[in-house]
Amino acid sequence: MPFTPVPDRFAGKTALVTGAASGIGRATTLRLAAEGAHVFALDIAADRLAETCDLAAELPGEVVGRVTDVAQRQECFAAVAEAVDRYARLDVLANVAGVARAEHMLQVSEVDYRRMMAINTDACFFLSQAAIPHLLETDGNIVNVASNAGLMGQAYTVAYCMSKGALVQMTRSLAWEFIKTPLRVNAIAPGGVETPLVSGYQMPPDVDFELMMRYTTPRPMAQAEDVAALLCFVASDEARNINGAVLSTDSGVTAG
Ligand SMILES: NC(=O)c1ccc[n+]([C@@H]2O[C@H](COP(=O)([O-])OP(=O)(O)OC[C@H]3O[C@@H](n4cnc5c(N)ncnc54)[C@H](O)[C@@H]3O)[C@@H](O)[C@H]2O)c1
Repeated sequence: MPFTPVPDRFAGKTALVTGAASGIGRATTLRLAAEGAHVFALDIAADRLAETCDLAAELPGEVVGRVTDVAQRQECFAAVAEAVDRYARLDVLANVAGVARAEHMLQVSEVDYRRMMAINTDACFFLSQAAIPHLLETDGNIVNVASNAGLMGQAYTVAYCMSKGALVQMTRSLAWEFIKTPLRVNAIAPGGVETPLVSGYQMPPDVDFELMMRYTTPRPMAQAEDVAALLCFVASDEARNINGAVLSTDSGVTAG
């Protein structure tokens, strides 16, 4: 692990992490477990989810994988119920699972559009609905993984930008609706992160690169562990004053 975990920061706590089979979700799962959390780890990719559980075998916290399609509302509720059945508490919901796709707006199919929204936005909504009653019992919190794409207009990823922009607004609105309770709801907004999501990314052949310069950076891409470090800080009690925030971790892309 390229970062030193904070020992016992999550001892006695339970987290539910989506997208735990890869990239940021895997790095978050491993860091939380390294810091003592029991992690109920969801992903649709069974083999890679099992790998995450194997990687966590020697860590202080337990990682239990549940193969779950978070695009299915009933699966979101079932997964939260199973997590609470197992650990009798839920302290953190980390909505990390996501898909991205670059395409000319006029060529986006209805199937692709609806799947993007179902995973990137709707799943976070339904998982939050299922989790909040339990999070209220533990003074817990939600961390949503948004994107710089939710904070600025970007060509060729209109649906992705919409899905992340909605997540940003869900974060702020939920934080405000529960402002009189101890629940915290935050989002983090990465820029480019070196994960399979990016390595599998295919641009349409005829894009205008001039339109894309504004959201590229001369700095190297982040690693999943960089984002996991911020996510775990925000989810921890050290961040008790952070609520309704959208915190960028994008090497400065949204500053320009
Ligand atoms: N990589 C980047 O540059 C970047 C930048 C900004 C934001 N993000 C966001 O970070 C999050 C994690 O992305 P990543 O880069 O780690 O990608 P990744 O592809 O490495 O991991 C995403 C995980 O989500 C899982 N997933 C997809 N659909 C699912 C479904 N229906 N049910 C359950 N799991 C599902 C995948 O199987 C995969 O394991 C995403 O929300 C992404 O939009 C990534």
